[in-house]
Amino acid sequence: MVARAVTLRLAGAHDAPVMALMSRDLIEAGLAWRYSPRRVAALIAEDETAALVACDGAEVLGFAVMQFGDERAHLSLLCVLPAHQRRGIGRRVLEWLFESARVAGIASIHLELRADNEPGRLFYRALGFNETNLVPGYYEGRFAARRMVRTLRPTEPDPQSHRTS
Ligand SMILES: CC(C)(COP(=O)(O)OP(=O)(O)OC[C@H]1O[C@@H](n2cnc3c(N)ncnc32)[C@H](O)[C@@H]1OP(=O)(O)O)[C@@H](O)C(=O)NCCC(=O)NCCS
Repeated sequence: MVARAVTLRLAGAHDAPVMALMSRDLIEAGLAWRYSPRRVAALIAEDETAALVACDGAEVLGFAVMQFGDERAHLSLLCVLPAHQRRGIGRRVLEWLFESARVAGIASIHLELRADNEPGRLFYRALGFNETNLVPGYYEGRFAARRMVRTLRPTEPDPQSHRTS
């Protein structure tokens, strides 16, 4: 089912507390809480960061935070409330970010997720991400991370790599 009543908008500072709580409960479960309301508010205020919320009226159902570099973007946070999962909200949020990344000239989007997060892996695969490497102990030295990447456009070859000495 596609969640047509759900609207997407850029997050504001007032969204930081609920986003931080969702991160604690849905993304950082079992880990120390790093994305506090203060840290999320700081991310929302950054020029190079896109923070997007999916809402039904005043209720935030999901959100994502992505940081933009010159050619690479890093998806730091993404979650949807359990009662609203499998309604296409995560897909809509990511497709919005893909489009803004394309407009910004981004070549690839990178992320890490817990290696045991099989639903998350399947979601990202469905959205065109591919697994790259496993990083043992990435989370607090206790849990492995899986890195994934979504290519948006081919990168220019590095001119240095063609130099012969
Ligand atoms: C991962 C997450 C963001 C997906 O959000 P969502 O709104 O439920 O995803 P969508 O409904 O847009 O799913 C899009 C597609 O992804 C795949 N998918 C999503 N969840 C899946 C699951 N649990 N198992 C298998 N495939 C899944 C399906 O192909 C789905 O399409 P379909 O429903 O037509 O079959 C959500 O499950 C979540 O918040 N999980 C907890 C936090 C988390 O793991 N975040 C990512 C790592 S930081």
